[in-house]
Order: sequence, then C-alpha cells, then structure tokens
Amino acid sequence: MKVLFVCLGNICRSPSAEGVFRRAVAQAGLEQQITVESCGIGDWHVGHPPDERAQAAAMRRGIDIGGLVARQFSREDFDDFDFILPMDYGNLRDIRGMEPDDHRARIELFLAFAGMPQGEVPDPYYGGDRGFEDVLDMIEEASRGLIDHIQTVA
Ligand code: 4NP
Repeated sequence: MKVLFVCLGNICRSPSAEGVFRRAVAQAGLEQQITVESCGIGDWHVGHPPDERAQAAAMRRGIDIGGLVARQFSREDFDDFDFILPMDYGNLRDIRGMEPDDHRARIELFLAFAGMPQGEVPDPYYGGDRGFEDVLDMIEEASRGLIDHIQTVA
C-alpha cells in the first residue's frame, strides 16, 4: 500500500503529513505494509528541506522531518501510488487536471479520513506558528482515520 501526500510547495503541509503518518504507521506496526511519500504541485522548492517552522512544530511532537527533500508531483504518481491525498481543493483540482483516463490511485482530500469530506488543511506558509500547530492537529486526526481505513480494507 503506497500513500502520497500532496500540497502546493512540499515544504509545509505534505512533509508534515508524511512525518506524522509515518509515525502512525510505525505505531500500528505496519511499516512492512505501507510506504509513505509527499510531493508538491509547484516546483519552487524542489530539493529543499521542509520549512523551518514546519520542522520545529513537528519536532515539538517528537517527529523529525528535517531529512525530507521536496519533489514535484508527476504523472507517474498516478500509477505508482494507491492513495493520492491532496491537502486542499486547489491541489485536488491541479491533480485532476493531470489525471490520465485509467490509473491505479484513489484520489481524496486527506481530511476525508478525519470525517471531514469537504475539509481542507489550510496553507500555513504566510501565517504564524499557530497555523503549523493547527495543521499538525488536523493531520494527526486524519492519519488515525487513514490507518483505521487501511486496516479495515486490508
Ligand atoms: P505547502 O506551503 O504547500 O504546505 O508546502 C507552501 C509553501 C510554499 C509556497 C506555497 C505554499 N510558495 O508559494 O512558495
């Protein structure tokens, strides 16, 4: 089972989701079953580590995302992943705009797994530190929901 988190820059929300969800996978003992990656719609930050504020917020919860490196979403991802999980409607629209007729991935807003089918993880890039804490709260809840979902269908 391969999971790909997608946001705009791949330096704030999706690397945070990658770190949080990877820890949830480990806590559930599912490392052998689930692979986790993240990427961005845009290419501005390709090759960069996560935003310092995202790194610091994750570290406050015991999660080190400092080693992650941003990459851009690509058409191959539609066949490489089982789940493609965008953070907001803009990301979802951009992914749908590149979608081939036939592919492997299920595409869903990530917060659907937090019981919020219309929910968006707001972009914290231009806000304060509180935005990063809110992002992590949402991501933790959706990560629990996604683990539950995968365990139910597996
Ligand atoms: P992210 O946040 O999509 O959560 O990584 C952003 C980071 C950078 C930019 C936009 C959003 N940017 O425009 O550079």
